[in-house]
Amino acid sequence: MNVYDSDRMVDLLKSAGYSKTQNLGSADLIILNTCHIREKAEEKVYSELGRLTKLKIRRKEQGSKILIAVAGCVAQAEGQRILERAPIVDLVFGPQTYHRLPSMVQNAMADNKRIIDTEFPVEDKFDYLAEGSQQGGPSKFLTIQEGCDRFCTFCVVPYTRGAEQSRSAISIAKEARRLVADGAREITLLGQNVNAWHGESPSGAEWKLGRLICYLAEIEGIDRIRYTTSHPKDVDDELIDAHRAVPQLMPFLHLPVQSGSDKILAAMNRHHNAKDYYYTVEKLRKACPEIALSSDFIVGFPGEEDVDYAKTIKMINDVGYAQAYSFKYSSRPGTPAADITDQVEDNVAAERLAGLQQLLRAQQDAFLSAQKGKTVKVLFERRGKQIGQICGRSPYMHPVHAHAPDSFLGKIAEVHIAEVMTNSLSGEVELGDRLSSITAFAEGASL
Ligand code: 5AD
Ligand code: SF4
Repeated sequence: MNVYDSDRMVDLLKSAGYSKTQNLGSADLIILNTCHIREKAEEKVYSELGRLTKLKIRRKEQGSKILIAVAGCVAQAEGQRILERAPIVDLVFGPQTYHRLPSMVQNAMADNKRIIDTEFPVEDKFDYLAEGSQQGGPSKFLTIQEGCDRFCTFCVVPYTRGAEQSRSAISIAKEARRLVADGAREITLLGQNVNAWHGESPSGAEWKLGRLICYLAEIEGIDRIRYTTSHPKDVDDELIDAHRAVPQLMPFLHLPVQSGSDKILAAMNRHHNAKDYYYTVEKLRKACPEIALSSDFIVGFPGEEDVDYAKTIKMINDVGYAQAYSFKYSSRPGTPAADITDQVEDNVAAERLAGLQQLLRAQQDAFLSAQKGKTVKVLFERRGKQIGQICGRSPYMHPVHAHAPDSFLGKIAEVHIAEVMTNSLSGEVELGDRLSSITAFAEGASL
């Protein structure tokens, strides 16, 4: 979502006369859009600010002013403390106030004042965002929901992104149509808890995510729909039906479970147990047999014992994941779990994480290897590193390389997978009843 928000900031600043630069040294305004989810992410912000100090001093010596802003969830959580700790920072604003960016920048420039805006405003940010376009290829993000009311005990999101808020179906469809007009073929619906989306339908009734997906699938030009990130408790039957009925909905779902132990799930306030999760996975697989799953896992949550860890390992073995993210528990100030005294020792958590990641890696490798010899649909997004090579993504998000002309960019083509690399695939674009080889393209064979 930070990528989506950063693109919106670029749009807003364009209307204020700014343009994006790849050259940090020549920038007049630098925005660090930050993440607060784990301590490591927060530390990165301060070390980056340390690096920018030299740049700001150098520019001052050259007689030019440069504004430095901290946006996002670290800004929301740390607020005033950032101004105290980092004297080079001119602007601090949270995820819910960035639509005010042009006026904040103007004020900071005019008054030479440092500005902080970490309110949760009454106005809807999305009403103020510029009708701009996202950078990049045919795969685009679209925020449909923000914030979270789930209050998992380890998580800062409900405090930094605020309460759950859903955009209306009309506003979402309008943005989707604009993205399609700009070349989007794939849209990833975003939200901190995206499947908690419950927004106003065009007739004024309330819809859930499954219904919204059906509605968006009717938009001409949208060939692929994804959504992330989901909470297992908010997977309802309508959403499962969408996986059965909507061909544009990709058969790949990120469904974080965090732990396989009921004791830990309860301590995390996850509102479901391992059995509920298994049942949801079973229903999803029944509705869409080719669906592949991804998840998030936390090890070393306070009170986690070997027996709990073993249950998480069992769950990974039982479910089988195509891909997953895993983390060592990071105590976040202000969250309920930070007050639990029964913290797991760091070396124990590190050892558990290594074991879990080894297993997940083996599952990921097996899933990737199983693609060899298959024909998969690839949405080609950009040129590759080699001359004549283009890259895209399979339905399972695997990066796929193939040698094909640029005219394939922005299109979906069938690719016969010939080779499996560490994290990606390569193959040949299939054209009708024959395989067009790399050399066929190089020799300019007619398509
Ligand atoms: N410590 C470790 N991992 C965390 N996550 C969220 N909060 C924490 C934390 N305090 C992980 C969860 C979540 C993902 C986005 O980040 O697994 O699903
Ligand atoms: Fe955080 Fe996700 Fe839990 Fe919400 S559902 S509190 S975003 S981990």
